[in-house]
Amino acid sequence: MKIEYLGHAAFKITGTKKILIDPFLDSNPKASLKSNDIKSADIILVTHGHGDHLGDSIQICKNTGAIFVSIHELILYAEENGVTNTEGMNIGGTIEIEGIKITAVKAEHSSCINVTDKGGYSGGNSIGFIVKDGNKTIYHAGDTGLFSDMELIGELYKPYVSLLPIGSRYTMGPKEASYAAQYLKSKIVVPMHYNTTPLIRQDPHQLNLFVSELGCGTEVKILEPGEYFEI
Ligand code: NI
Ligand code: MN
Repeated sequence: MKIEYLGHAAFKITGTKKILIDPFLDSNPKASLKSNDIKSADIILVTHGHGDHLGDSIQICKNTGAIFVSIHELILYAEENGVTNTEGMNIGGTIEIEGIKITAVKAEHSSCINVTDKGGYSGGNSIGFIVKDGNKTIYHAGDTGLFSDMELIGELYKPYVSLLPIGSRYTMGPKEASYAAQYLKSKIVVPMHYNTTPLIRQDPHQLNLFVSELGCGTEVKILEPGEYFEI
């Protein structure tokens, strides 16, 4: 399985299928790809309605025929906007798409779909995703604060890799994310959702420092947009 960071909270996961998570690309100054660069995709996972996560997912689904997977309310929005291939779910549920198991887990965050600068409407709850492809499991936390049920997520799903926000202001910062790493017991954590704008400026090496202090043995892998690793 190849895990490629596209910038902000966007990842491309290539295993038996091509999966994109939160593809916010065209309006993201730090993105390593633009939506038109994506010629094929099978599954798009969207954690919540904020523009920096919903991003270009609808256009990419239209361009590639990929399945749009998210919480029920966001599916309705995607369908209203012309996406025909969707799978709706909700917190605690698991679906299987061609052998890949996708579980929606809670995230402590809001989820407004901003259709204009002045507002929008509710996107339901914000979620995170567990993706299991064969014996490889990863966790994308979405936007979230720290919550102690991450320990249960670690125990139940045993994610080998966890993708955790560290930007603070809207999500956990590095200190909170180090506690998340301790709860999850993943082999690898990858920081995300930082340095896209000055409002979420962070030094990702802080996460490394805090994780080392806790001594939980997790490797912190810092990726620049466009960088990837394989598990
Ligand atoms: Ni958000
Ligand atoms: Mn966000």
